[in-house]
Amino acid sequence: MPNQKTFKILITGAGGMLGSDLAAVLKDDFEVVGLDKRPVTHLTVPYDICDLTHARKTRDAIVSHQPNLVIHAAALTDVDYCEDHHEEAIEQNVGATKNVVDACNDVNAALIFYSTDYVFDGQKKGEYTEEDTPNPISFYGNTKLQAEQYILAQAKQAVIFRITWLFGVWGRCFPKAILRQAADAKKMTVVNDQVGRPTYSWDVAEAMKSVLLKKREFVFDQKPTIFHLGNMGTVNWADFARFILNESNLGSVKIEDISSTQLKRPAPRPLNSVLSLEKLKHELALELPSWQDATRLFLPRLKRELAAQDERSKAQAAEKENTAG
Ligand SMILES: NC(=O)c1ccc[n+]([C@@H]2O[C@H](COP(=O)([O-])OP(=O)(O)OC[C@H]3O[C@@H](n4cnc5c(N)ncnc54)[C@H](OP(=O)(O)O)[C@@H]3O)[C@@H](O)[C@H]2O)c1
Repeated sequence: MPNQKTFKILITGAGGMLGSDLAAVLKDDFEVVGLDKRPVTHLTVPYDICDLTHARKTRDAIVSHQPNLVIHAAALTDVDYCEDHHEEAIEQNVGATKNVVDACNDVNAALIFYSTDYVFDGQKKGEYTEEDTPNPISFYGNTKLQAEQYILAQAKQAVIFRITWLFGVWGRCFPKAILRQAADAKKMTVVNDQVGRPTYSWDVAEAMKSVLLKKREFVFDQKPTIFHLGNMGTVNWADFARFILNESNLGSVKIEDISSTQLKRPAPRPLNSVLSLEKLKHELALELPSWQDATRLFLPRLKRELAAQDERSKAQAAEKENTAG
């Protein structure tokens, strides 16, 4: 196993919500490069453009970097879009993962892959363990399960982390949607019958750093395995929305609770998304902060990033005007 300084990590989907935080958190301790489908202005590590659905380009990109570890965070994550675009969902979530796994095997790189609570049907009473049998009810969940199965059967060295209800600064997520709606509404409806663990992408990235610094043998020299990962505590979406509004001094915006059947969306969601964190605690000595603490750190960071983005857009507009003038 290479020592830390020469340990090279390639992150796919490096410009996405999780990929961006992985790059920011891991770059100080490891050599980090990224791959993404299109240019990303906020990335702080070198990256190449590569469409992972293209097998030869994916192999060429991974071979040219010779990473020790590939963290595969790229996916088609729009659950409702996947429900209506099966072919594309299979290509992006299954085909691209196969290409990444095959290339990793070729260069003897270990693999970390992110799957989802949506591989379960949500009917279990109690927390889902890694031993429970998946039974996805959405097409997205189905494609992520197919990707898992390919990894378990074919990857030489891999760890699958099933993560859940992810939120972060660089992408579409629930807290951002609630804050956006609260900007022009006094009242909104949110479902109250789905329960899960809101999980901050920054905390997932910190957890990866901890594993790679302290428990690297779990990624290397071992057959593919699955861990569930998430922030501590559980909540339903409506109460999570209330918490976000209260912490943002928007408590006057009212949340009306509704059921999942009232919210007609193309893809069904599991009612119980609560993943057991026991294996994570016992085998990787990992316990993430509570979702409340995570959200309290996330909200001011989001505010700072949005203000910085605003400044950048204004500066770009001013520069354009100057050039035109
Ligand atoms: N978001 C959640 O709530 C959640 C929950 C559980 C598990 N997960 C899993 O966690 C992982 C990270 O999710 P995320 O929310 O960070 O995703 P995300 O924000 O949607 O980012 C995914 C990134 O991958 C890129 N990408 C997609 N297809 C690609 C391709 N063919 N080639 C190269 N790049 C490609 C995307 O580019 P474009 O944006 O240009 O397409 C995007 O930059 C995924 O595996 C997801 O399934 C997410």
